[in-house]
Amino acid sequence: MTTVRFDPADSVQGLLRAPADKSISHRGLLLSAFADGRSTVTGCLDAADTRSTLAAIESLGAEVSCVPSEAGGLDLEILGVGLRGAKSCQVDVGNSGTLIRLLMGLLAGQPDGGEWTLEGDDSIAGRPMDRVAVPLTSLGAEIDCRDGAYAPVTVCGSQLHGGEVDLSVASAQVKSAVLLAGLGATSPVSVTEPALSRDHTELMLASCGVEVSREGLVTTVSPAQSLAPIDLAVPGDISSAAFAMALALLLPGSELLLPGVGLNPTRTGILDIVELMGAGSSLDLSAESVSAGERVGDLKVASGQLTGAQFGGDLIPRSIDELPLLGLLGCFADGETVLTGASELRVKESDRIEGVVSGLAGLGADIEELSDGFRVVGTGGIPGGVLDARGDHRLAMLGAVAGLVSREGVEVQGFEAVEISYPAFESDIRSISG
Ligand code: S3P
Repeated sequence: MTTVRFDPADSVQGLLRAPADKSISHRGLLLSAFADGRSTVTGCLDAADTRSTLAAIESLGAEVSCVPSEAGGLDLEILGVGLRGAKSCQVDVGNSGTLIRLLMGLLAGQPDGGEWTLEGDDSIAGRPMDRVAVPLTSLGAEIDCRDGAYAPVTVCGSQLHGGEVDLSVASAQVKSAVLLAGLGATSPVSVTEPALSRDHTELMLASCGVEVSREGLVTTVSPAQSLAPIDLAVPGDISSAAFAMALALLLPGSELLLPGVGLNPTRTGILDIVELMGAGSSLDLSAESVSAGERVGDLKVASGQLTGAQFGGDLIPRSIDELPLLGLLGCFADGETVLTGASELRVKESDRIEGVVSGLAGLGADIEELSDGFRVVGTGGIPGGVLDARGDHRLAMLGAVAGLVSREGVEVQGFEAVEISYPAFESDIRSISG
């Protein structure tokens, strides 16, 4: 286990190019693997999670050629196996919930006789897979989970039928699995979610020629004979950029440019959070464009004064991976910040409610755990100390940012977890903080 110390910084300045979006990279690799013909994915994330996906699609029979891209990611050419051509195999998904859940959907409708076992690390083994297996089974899938709910998961190919699926949690991973299974069904599949989750799968399926539509919270996909190959340039990951954004907000005198960040409205809840905390004027968006349905733009961030606020409801799925940072922002805000309705955080790579609360409390924060969130009182900052990343990449990065904005510095235990989504995090963050 690696321990890395982050001492207080004065300010952040300059430019930081966030690594490629993890969600879009996973989907680009998976849909390319199941497409007919040759796809290109430019600037794909090169991190442990997407390396798991690359290995998985090769085991399924896709042919991959790959060179490093200029900006530190991977430029890939992928020859797909076709929508129903996956080879039977075992897949190690590593730490990736997106990979295992989307694969369950893609594999469920493969031809009879195909069989796949999906397993991962200790974190994956403790995360619920029945939330995907149950809706897929209602469409005719044959899926077996350990103890009815966990990985390893065995999927046997079978003919699926259409239908309507009602989700009790707003989860893009579950929604995506159901929609991907719908490609192989005999009639359309509709999925209703309680609040809108990220829609990258829908946008990418549309660019592969699939009929997919949304009305309110109901998304419907029509069966498809094949997927057209894709030509995808992956934007920067707003979830990774958010750590640098928080630094710039909290360190007085900072000014930071984050170019080429994905701004899909289902992902920009963190920008709304900053606005609701009264620092909207610290953010400036420019050079916005749309590529394959995904909004992209440059985000400029300056330091700002935050005010405590209450968060919950539809904002949660739009900011789910950035919520650990809300705990830290709350330590610097005037008054009290309360997060509720975020019990999904308990089933992420770690229990992020417990991890954030005990992690920040250990650094001197005035923070209290709620069953579905936390309450934090701003005390003008945090002293510092030791934070355990608990094998969770986002907690490791939270600890680093906490150290740079603290009074005495923070030692992050298990810092190597950043490899999951942002291997260059330490050098990037040090380059902007001097
Ligand atoms: C993801 C969806 C989110 C998010 C995860 C990536 C995706 O999970 O937390 O990091 O790529 O679909 P849920 O959909 O389970 O909320």
